[in-house]
Amino acid sequence: MKKLAFSGVQPTGNLHLGNYLGAINNFLNLQKQMECIFCVVDLHAITIFQDPESLKKNSLETTASFLASGLDSEKNIIFKQSSVSGHSELAWILSCVSRIGWLNRMTQFKDKAGKDKEKASVGLYIYPNLMAADILLYKATHVPVGSDQKQHLELSRDIAQKFNKDFNSKNFFPLPEPLILKNISRVMSLRDGNKKMSKSDESDYSRINLKDSKDEIFKKIKKAKTDTKPIPASKKELINRPEANNLINIYAEMTDKKFENVLDEMSGKEFSFFKKELSEVIIDKICPIGKKVKDLMGDKTYLESILKKGKEKANIIAEENLKKVREIIGFV
Ligand code: TRP
Repeated sequence: MKKLAFSGVQPTGNLHLGNYLGAINNFLNLQKQMECIFCVVDLHAITIFQDPESLKKNSLETTASFLASGLDSEKNIIFKQSSVSGHSELAWILSCVSRIGWLNRMTQFKDKAGKDKEKASVGLYIYPNLMAADILLYKATHVPVGSDQKQHLELSRDIAQKFNKDFNSKNFFPLPEPLILKNISRVMSLRDGNKKMSKSDESDYSRINLKDSKDEIFKKIKKAKTDTKPIPASKKELINRPEANNLINIYAEMTDKKFENVLDEMSGKEFSFFKKELSEVIIDKICPIGKKVKDLMGDKTYLESILKKGKEKANIIAEENLKKVREIIGFV
C-alpha cells in the first residue's frame, strides 16, 4: 500500500518553539519520506469558543508558519479542514460507529473539560471521532502525533476496524500507524521545567515565539530559570533539575545533536555560558522563520491561494473515498 501521512495542527496563532520542535520540525523530515497532508484543523479549534476574526487570522498564521519553516506546498497538501466538507460528513458517520464507552476513556477530554463536564461542548467530547475522520477520509497510513494524541490515534484504529467489520468491508480503511514524535511534550516552560511550553501561559517569558526578535530571544533565555549548578556529565544528574534538563534538550533539538553528546561537549560549563550558545542557535534558526511568517502575513492573497490549491487537491481524494463510504453504508 502507498504510504500517506496525515497530520493536523490547531490554528492557535502565535506558534512557539514547542510547536516548532514538537510538530513542524518533524514534518520537515517526514515530507522527504512519503506523501504528506498537513491540515490546519479549524473544525477542531471551535470545540472551544473562538473569536471568528482571530480564528481567521490564526488559520492563516499557521499556514504561514508551515511555509516559512519549509513545508513544500507543491509536493504536499496544505489546506484548511473546514474547506473540505468531507471531514464533517465522515465525522458524523464515524460518530455512529464509535462507542460512548470508548470516548469516555479519553483522558484529553477529561483534562480539557475540567471540573464542570456538563458545560463542555458536545464537539469537545466527540473531538476524537473528527480526528479519526480526518485520517480515514484520506486513508492515511501514517500519523505523526505527540504522545498526548496517542490515545486518539488508537481510537481511530478501533473505529476503522469496527467500520470494516460492521460493513463487511475488510481492509477498506487501513489502520493508521502512529509515528510518535519524540519531543512533543518535552519542550517545557522556561519558567517552570515541569510545565509544558504553552501559548496560554500568562508570562511571555515562559516561551520563545516564532515571531520573537533577536533581543527578545536573548533576554528570555538569559532570564530562563536554572539552578546554581553547572552542566553535569550525565543525564542521571539532571533528574531533579527539570529546568536545566529542558534547556539542554532544546539545545540538542535545535542543533540536531544527541542529548548525551551535548553533555559531553558542555559538562562543567556554567549556565551563563551555555545560555549564550543556546540563544545563538535559537536565533539562527527561529528568527529567519519568524521574519518569513511576518512577510507572508503581509500577503494574505498568496496564503489564501495556497490553501485553495490544497483544498482542491484534498477534495479530490476525499470525494473519491466518501463516494465509496456512501455506497458501503447504503446511502446510494
Ligand atoms: N488533535 C490534534 C492535536 O491537538 C490535531 C489533529 C486533528 C490531528 N486531526 C488530526 C493530528 C489528525 C493528527 C491527525 O494535536
